[in-house]
Amino acid sequence: MEREKLEKLLEIACFAPSAKNNQPWHWTVVENPADVKRMAGMVIDWMRSVIKKYPQQAEERGLPRVVEAWDGGQERICRGAPHVIVVHGDKDYVLGAEDSATALSYLELYAPTLDLGSCWGGYFFSAVNAYPPLFEALDLPADHKAFGAAMVGYPKLRYQRLPLRKQARINWI
Ligand SMILES: Cc1cc2nc3c(=O)[nH]c(=O)nc-3n(C[C@H](O)[C@H](O)[C@H](O)COP(=O)(O)O)c2cc1C
Repeated sequence: MEREKLEKLLEIACFAPSAKNNQPWHWTVVENPADVKRMAGMVIDWMRSVIKKYPQQAEERGLPRVVEAWDGGQERICRGAPHVIVVHGDKDYVLGAEDSATALSYLELYAPTLDLGSCWGGYFFSAVNAYPPLFEALDLPADHKAFGAAMVGYPKLRYQRLPLRKQARINWI
């Protein structure tokens, strides 16, 4: 994909609101699909270590199924996407998670206007913070933390409808 397109997407994401207009987000783009694949493998390495050390927690997060799928040839970490975008910032900034999640939501909402598809990479960004080899592979500053990640590419499919949503849980007072 043209770098300009990813740049445009990130420029749009930066229009997200943030506390005090602090805009605390930094972006790391894994541009090379081969690197995305290699890093997906690192997420699996991390999952294997969690399964070994904390089997119950691993079960709750559904990690054994993802690893089994990987061993059977199915890539459920980055789902074959060509690029991954990681949003990160000062690990001690209290609103880093909120502001970054908002920016990533802007990114996801605007992606289709550029004919792009995106998907939150929850497994990916959890592994960035928990697994130092992946943190280092991404060359993140030592005082940063990943607040989110998204896979990005041209979508293969066009969905006719959204996955079902629960009714709004509202308390009128
Ligand atoms: C914080 C967060 C983490 C997520 N992590 C993943 C992930 O690791 N892999 C994945 O395929 N989808 C992931 N998703 C996408 C959700 O599964 C998806 O948004 C949800 O099923 C609703 O589908 P929709 O966004 O297509 O409407 C994540 C979404 C969020 C908000």
